[in-house]
Amino acid sequence: MKISQAIKNSKISKSEARSLLSFVTGLDIPYLIANDETQLCDKDYVDFVNISQRRELGHPMGYLMGKKEFYGSVFTISRDVLIPRPETELLVEVALANLPLKEPSRLLELGTGCGVIAISLLLNHRKIVVDAIDISEEALKLARQNADDLLSDLTRIDFFRSNWLADVSNEVKYNMVVANPPYVGDRDVHLTKGDVRFEPSIALVGGSDGLFHIRQIVSNVLGYLSEGGWLIVEHGYNQAGAVQDIFQVNGYSNITQIKDLAGNLRVTLGQLEKAIDYK
Ligand SMILES: C[S@@+](CC[C@H](N)C(=O)[O-])C[C@H]1O[C@@H](n2cnc3c(N)ncnc32)[C@H](O)[C@@H]1O
Repeated sequence: MKISQAIKNSKISKSEARSLLSFVTGLDIPYLIANDETQLCDKDYVDFVNISQRRELGHPMGYLMGKKEFYGSVFTISRDVLIPRPETELLVEVALANLPLKEPSRLLELGTGCGVIAISLLLNHRKIVVDAIDISEEALKLARQNADDLLSDLTRIDFFRSNWLADVSNEVKYNMVVANPPYVGDRDVHLTKGDVRFEPSIALVGGSDGLFHIRQIVSNVLGYLSEGGWLIVEHGYNQAGAVQDIFQVNGYSNITQIKDLAGNLRVTLGQLEKAIDYK
């Protein structure tokens, strides 16, 4: 079977078909385009038919290829973790913009998944050290693998299991805590559509209004922040008002909300003016 014919026969878009064929054959996309009269070997053709049929059934491209690009790096993913979203790059940008460039800072990431936020921050700031937690051991395994693959200095990152802050020590405070927690309401129609159908619900669902985890995080992080420390949270496009209230009720200062490229307020940050000493 010729490359051009295999792509034509598949019932998915040309660009997805080319990406999957590139994944199966190991040939890059420009080569596939320039040499589309080349014959595929039987094994590559069968593999391509199988994977493109799964795509046709709705399986996400990221899970089919086991990879996803985020903030300029390619991360290994699996069905155990959320597929990193381009929107979450905004959280990374906001975090970097609020970290003093030349000073060392201690960061905590809550709900790290495959590690995209923690690792992207480490790749873009030389002076930070990061603790990153998740409740899922499978997610932590992937995050550690991504750190091994992408970071040159593994002494700056520590991944461990915790149910939010339950197993995080507050003896040494953090300059910044970042989180992209599950924030979809449990009856949200988006859960029945597209890629989301294949993702773990533990990474998506935040109770009936989607805010269950955000409330927990915002109210508990205060005792873990150093003076002037920031909490930065990603949330849904329609949750900005509610999240601002949660930050306000808990006494954060300088609460700020940042819009994504579509014009929706998707990231909220607030600062702890005076450190709280829990003994
Ligand atoms: C929306 S995903 C974010 C993953 C990754 N940080 C990203 O931005 O792509 C939320 C993550 O929170 C984790 N999580 C859910 N409930 C948790 C809990 N109670 N304690 C710690 N982590 C939790 C999930 O396992 C998941 O990895």
